[in-house]
Amino acid sequence: MDHNLGLIVGSGLDYLGLTIATRSATETPFGPPSSPILTASFGGSPIACIARHGEKQRIPPHAVNYRANLWSLYQHGVRRCLAINSVGAIDPGFEPGALAIPDQLIDYTWGREHSYYDGSNDELDHVEFSEPFDPELRGRIAAAAQAIGCPVRAGVCGVTQGPRLETAAEINRLARDGCAMVGMTAMPEAALARELGIAYAVCAVAVNHAAGRGPGDTTIDAQLERYASLGMQRVGALLDRLVPDLIAMA
Ligand code: HPA
Repeated sequence: MDHNLGLIVGSGLDYLGLTIATRSATETPFGPPSSPILTASFGGSPIACIARHGEKQRIPPHAVNYRANLWSLYQHGVRRCLAINSVGAIDPGFEPGALAIPDQLIDYTWGREHSYYDGSNDELDHVEFSEPFDPELRGRIAAAAQAIGCPVRAGVCGVTQGPRLETAAEINRLARDGCAMVGMTAMPEAALARELGIAYAVCAVAVNHAAGRGPGDTTIDAQLERYASLGMQRVGALLDRLVPDLIAMA
């Protein structure tokens, strides 16, 4: 079964409570993807999902096989892809539990396999990337969020290497660069999607104040609790609204 629409789920997979109908393992020229392609249903519509950090294990952001993940979605017919990414909130007024649709990114990652044009063959394309996220998908996510009464903001997403969180000085630098939020996984994912011609956008869930911002701590436990409770409930409601809409427009 071909799925035009795909979903990349980050650490919140368990909290979304997906019912998986099918699982298909995929071989790729780049090694194994993080998980099989999982068919799950949102609002009654089935789509192809992949668990970015694995179904059971916790693959850290810098060790995710992004090339294999995107390749495997592409092999299953995915041409439009939503990614759910947890982020730390940098901008004042952006609180844990809130959602955002990044409109730009800055890549601070290093050493990741970040291109299909790796010099191993004669192919090379310098893909256009001035708009890293698909504007139409962003608009659809925003419209669905508005329809369910969930506020979403836009902004620049800084993408750091992890798995450690940032220092307060690093976050100050990201803020000076214009980043409203910080995550660890939008790159190279967004660029690889572009290389494959997959329209890609991120729905970001703030799970903590970034280092040195806000009153709270940035521990993983605190993140998961917030992620589980508020943010992922909102993402679930958003997907129930959004997925049938996106499928109808295919
Ligand atoms: N920094 C980087 N990535 C993140 C954070 C953070 O504070 N929170 C969730 N993902």
